[in-house]
Amino acid sequence: MSPSITENLRPRRKSLEGQNSSLIFIRRMRDEDLPEVLTIENLCFSNPWSKETFRGEIQNKAISFPLVVIHSWQKRIIGYVIFWQIGDEAQINNVAIHPDYQGQGFGEIALRYVFERLRENGVHFVCLEVRVSNLSALALYRKLGFTVLGVRKEYYTNPVEDAYVMGLMLD
Ligand SMILES: CC(C)(COP(=O)(O)OP(=O)(O)OC[C@H]1O[C@@H](n2cnc3c(N)ncnc32)[C@H](O)[C@@H]1OP(=O)(O)O)[C@@H](O)C(=O)NCCC(=O)NCCS
Repeated sequence: MSPSITENLRPRRKSLEGQNSSLIFIRRMRDEDLPEVLTIENLCFSNPWSKETFRGEIQNKAISFPLVVIHSWQKRIIGYVIFWQIGDEAQINNVAIHPDYQGQGFGEIALRYVFERLRENGVHFVCLEVRVSNLSALALYRKLGFTVLGVRKEYYTNPVEDAYVMGLMLD
């Protein structure tokens, strides 16, 4: 099948790539990004995703949007956001900012930018899970308008912990 025919069979989606203010640039994650991404993942999480898991997201082009957040003038990956988009809903599966860059607004800027693009792409609802003890992430999600929809008991391991399920209507 020619590429143009394949494209015509898919719903048209605007690219999520782009610049937000002049601070960060967002583009799709590539295999060659994985060393930097894994460094951040291991610094940020007690039960980090493996390289194979990230690779699976990169390859799952039908529904997965693994995006890297690049510092515009330092030209380095400072974080990532990974979504699944299924129809008009999106699920955040992973988000992290390198510890050296946390608390400087990058997480908020990146998520606001991504949500704006998702809204343009027809997404109406975003959901995610977060450890109940992850106060900084909870504060960020609440600031962005997420509310708690429920609790998943003992959802996480290392350490075992409940998850809040949070949701946000985009329109
Ligand atoms: C959660 C995370 C993505 C936030 O990114 P960040 O760039 O550090 O956050 P920002 O600087 O953009 O902060 C935006 C808002 O988040 C909240 N926030 C961020 N860090 C916080 C902290 N240490 N304490 C309390 N609130 C915090 C605040 O509401 C803040 O807004 P404010 O500055 O007006 O108070 C980042 O801390 C991170 O990568 N943590 C480790 C991985 C992780 O927990 N990911 C989420 C898994 S669900």
